[in-house]
Amino acid sequence: MDGRREHDEAGGGRRTRVCVVGASGKLGRHMVRHALERDYEVVGVCREQSVGKLAEFADRVTVVPGQTDDREVIARAVEGCDAVLTVLVPWGVRGYSTGTAQAVLDLAPRGARLVFSCGWHVPRDEHDVYSFWSRVIMRIVTVLARLARVIDVDDQVRACRRIYASDTRWTVVRGSDLEEGASQGLPIWRRHVGDPALASNITRRTDFALFMVEAITDDDLVHEAPAIVGRRTPSALGVTGSSARPAG
Ligand SMILES: NC(=O)c1ccc[n+]([C@@H]2O[C@H](COP(=O)([O-])OP(=O)(O)OC[C@H]3O[C@@H](n4cnc5c(N)ncnc54)[C@H](OP(=O)(O)O)[C@@H]3O)[C@@H](O)[C@H]2O)c1
Repeated sequence: MDGRREHDEAGGGRRTRVCVVGASGKLGRHMVRHALERDYEVVGVCREQSVGKLAEFADRVTVVPGQTDDREVIARAVEGCDAVLTVLVPWGVRGYSTGTAQAVLDLAPRGARLVFSCGWHVPRDEHDVYSFWSRVIMRIVTVLARLARVIDVDDQVRACRRIYASDTRWTVVRGSDLEEGASQGLPIWRRHVGDPALASNITRRTDFALFMVEAITDDDLVHEAPAIVGRRTPSALGVTGSSARPAG
């Protein structure tokens, strides 16, 4: 898909329309910025109380306020979109991630590019390799967060399983630990967690967003769950022939 759509049904030119679900968060705002830089038309979904966080974009973004798992909100926001970028977050214990993912999968226009964010902790398949200690820490965090009823990490995992099983044009971008700072360029990616190229486990948040937006036009990423890492990190630089493409 090109930055600009050649023609709409009426025969006139029209801009690529992109919905950012979770637009007011840190990752969401970076995605909005990158999308606007590409001259995409942007629709943002965010909670009512967070609309002010999008003020910097003023009249350049159409805001649809509401919870991201509200199907009516999503239906309105994704109408006519060529791509939907979704920040998957497992807030609460009422299936927020699965509700959000399902709404986008069900309601986005047929054929739209659907790109979802999550972390390395979500496996793609049995070929992802996690160290003993990362598994222990993840389990402790998962149990404590659920007991406190703050976050349900397993719900994000369930959401991604639904995405993997869908016949939409999906990509699930799995982020490493994140840091703020200026862009280092498009992160490199590997098909599986545990790949030595990912060992540095750090990515600039703006570059995570860049990867999400670039995925809209990268058909090689359809039905992939790239695990990403900053392209200037030691592990990325240290891999011979390191490129943005996976080793396999
Ligand atoms: N943080 C990391 O180190 C890290 C690492 C790897 C991957 N990731 C992935 O990156 C993505 C962005 O995560 P982030 O941690 O960087 O945060 P973020 O971009 O700031 O996004 C957090 C999102 O959660 C929403 N939110 C906050 N509290 C909420 C609540 N109580 N109920 C409903 N929604 C709520 C925020 O909306 P409001 O603007 O309305 O508050 C915002 O859309 C996620 O998919 C995450 O899995 C993060």
